[in-house]
Amino acid sequence: MQSVFALNYSEDISPIIYDNCTLCHREGEIGAFLPLTNYQEVFENRYWISYAISGNGDGSRHGNPIMPPWPADRSYSTLLDEMYLSEDEIHSYLEWVDEGAMQGDPALEYPMPDYPTGSAIGVPDMVLELEESYFIEGNFQDDYRCFVLETGFTEDKDIAALEFIPGNLEAVHHALIVATPEGTTDALEAEDPEYGYDCFGGFGTFNISDFLGGYAPGVRSREWPNGLAQQIPANSELIVQIHYAPLGSDQTDLSSVNIFFKEEPAQRYVQERVLINFTFQLPPNQLTEVHEVWNVYQDISLIQFLPHSHLLGKSWEIFALTPTSPDTIPLIKIPQWDFDWQFWYSPEYMIHLPQGSEVHAICTYDNTSNNPDNPNNPPQWTYWGEGTEDEMFFVPFRYVDYQPGDENFYLGDLEYILGDVNNDSLLNVLDVVSLVNLILNGGETTPACDVNGDESINVLDVVTLVNMILSS
Ligand code: HEC
Repeated sequence: MQSVFALNYSEDISPIIYDNCTLCHREGEIGAFLPLTNYQEVFENRYWISYAISGNGDGSRHGNPIMPPWPADRSYSTLLDEMYLSEDEIHSYLEWVDEGAMQGDPALEYPMPDYPTGSAIGVPDMVLELEESYFIEGNFQDDYRCFVLETGFTEDKDIAALEFIPGNLEAVHHALIVATPEGTTDALEAEDPEYGYDCFGGFGTFNISDFLGGYAPGVRSREWPNGLAQQIPANSELIVQIHYAPLGSDQTDLSSVNIFFKEEPAQRYVQERVLINFTFQLPPNQLTEVHEVWNVYQDISLIQFLPHSHLLGKSWEIFALTPTSPDTIPLIKIPQWDFDWQFWYSPEYMIHLPQGSEVHAICTYDNTSNNPDNPNNPPQWTYWGEGTEDEMFFVPFRYVDYQPGDENFYLGDLEYILGDVNNDSLLNVLDVVSLVNLILNGGETTPACDVNGDESINVLDVVTLVNMILSS
């Protein structure tokens, strides 16, 4: 029944869909099989969308609700860049469907967000591209491929960010980047007739650096903030591991990696500790829990983690215990592990783990035939390995040596107003005074001070700022 007060697409529903779904569900993107870019497309798929967003399904894939994809439990811990619909948004959508899914006045439809193409960070210092385009067969199968890119670096390089740019957004599901000494993978490449080499859950070698970068749809790359950096060792190549999603048509991909060097000297290097278990055994027809503990012997600040298992993975929980507090620090819980959605997860602020802390990671594996992803039917004994039918327990953690104040070190993007030098949310003569002071006497500058955007802070910024204030 339609009433005057009924919700309509243009005013009530299009903002929800365009702000949360079209990033992926539009032409040329990972969710192109289901474009949701206008009333007609959403109307025709309204029940499918209800199923995906309401959590009424069996929740067997990437959490419950299943869309937008965000496998982590948001009531357990708060992480950066969470993707979700609020309870209100879900209710409005379901109510709109119940009320007849009316369009309303098309003129009032919410605008599609601006989707920037290319880098989300800026102009890269160096770009490494796949040497040839890779052919992906349209056979509805996953394809896991490693490609090796030469850096030509003859000295160690401090890196602010490695940003993976998918050549084919519909095909590339996720990517991981590591460095390896030159020549390490020559044999692997030579054995494989196609460009690159086959690799499912790893890189085909353990002679690799820390993880240097990665990609998953919807996750934005960032530069390491304030004085933090990673390093690419001299004479190394990059291995890029790409997971191509199942496709219904033949396609090609020419992905690339943007490299951003650290401009100012690094004060702290991002370090990595991988919590691993090589010796677990997963008997058929049962659930098995694997629990590993990282004993932290230094004072550190935790900044990221990436739980990783294969198709038998069912759930993850990771938490820390410190010697200084009786409280458990919840890091992440993934109630429904999904191999398709793997992210680097960051807390909002660095987490201080004093010497003597313990980080516990628990993965439960479902090696029964109730697991729709079980690669073996009937289920088989399963052990560590890189193949689709093998399993992994693998959690890299990124951290830095602790410095006082790290607890307040925000890891996301700081919002700022250009020219708001004194950070009082206003733009006026006080900012000019502060800027002149900074230039004459030094002090800590922020991105807000580089008013003319030339990456240096000097009298030209004062001129631009005065002009901005006078003309506003
Ligand atoms: C980060 C990318 C991304 C975002 C954001 C996203 N989707 Fe998806 N969606 C996908 C991909 C990829 C698939 C297919 C593979 C899968 O289910 O993981 C999918 C699957 C679906 C399906 C089919 C699910 C099924 O199991 O049958 C529906 C319906 C859907 N999405 C709706 C939505 C809606 C509605 C939103 C916004 C509230 C949304 N998606 C946000 C990428 C995304």
